[in-house]
Amino acid sequence: MPLYRKLEALKLARSNYKGKALGVVPTMGALHLGHLSLIAKAKRESEAVWVTIFVNPTQFEKKDDLDKYPESLTADVASVHEIGADINIFAPTATDMYPEGLAAKKQTLDGLDTLMEGADRSGHFDGVITIIAKLFEILQPHLAYFGEKDFQQLQVIKKWAKDQHILTKIIPCPVVREANGLAMSSRNAQLSPKDRKEAGFIYEAMLQCKNKSLDKPAIYTIIKKTFSAHPNFDLLYVLCAEEDSLKEVHDLVSANKPRLFISVSVTGVRLIDNVALK
Ligand code: PAJ
Repeated sequence: MPLYRKLEALKLARSNYKGKALGVVPTMGALHLGHLSLIAKAKRESEAVWVTIFVNPTQFEKKDDLDKYPESLTADVASVHEIGADINIFAPTATDMYPEGLAAKKQTLDGLDTLMEGADRSGHFDGVITIIAKLFEILQPHLAYFGEKDFQQLQVIKKWAKDQHILTKIIPCPVVREANGLAMSSRNAQLSPKDRKEAGFIYEAMLQCKNKSLDKPAIYTIIKKTFSAHPNFDLLYVLCAEEDSLKEVHDLVSANKPRLFISVSVTGVRLIDNVALK
């Protein structure tokens, strides 16, 4: 399994793939079945695959959140190996990725980055785009795979790629869930077994909303009422928004591609989820 830790070695290896349709799956590691579904899709659709594993400091606004972020490189390498022994892994150091110091470049993203996750996590998407821009520059991928679990991130990356005339095609991938419906996330491991089991109610409530005849007030009522029965789970926001603009939808019936977005804090662990309403 080719594992590259150093930028120079990676650049040399990349030069052997000239002319091949290259797919990249950017991750922060602690890989679970959600990540692995992206890697398997990339493997089916590309001639060569690179998985990047890098816990990107500039997208964390709180130091303790960064410090708590799980790392498991040896297990991650083994999981990727099971999908394909020829898949390349790039797990660089912060010094290689940020030789000029740990700073995110300010982006102009038409407000897509300042609502929902961006409202609570100022500068978060500047950090995400900064690292994605660096990875794309180094790897020059034809295809790049991102999960709909982080729907706002996917839309922000699509917007940036379009505005900057990035040639890489951004491929959305469906959300993979645990048996109880909880969206898989590296952060789920930080939940107590009891909270992790109980957290299945979030997706259940969202599915109930899907069948609510597109009535926005009824949807917000269902969500708020459901959360009041789970006092450990702090509802940070619930929003019915249009898929591309991410702006709040007023009339769900006439809305173009409305989605329900939720963000939750459980004993300090942040969880997000979304479902299409039509
Ligand atoms: P990370 O949270 O590790 O996620 C890497 C990719 O896996 C993202 O595209 C994310 O949406 C996708 N993913 C995570 N959980 C998923 C699930 N349950 N189902 C489907 N896809 C899932 O997102 C990041 O890292 C970072 O912000 C990154 C893009 C790598 C930039 O640092």
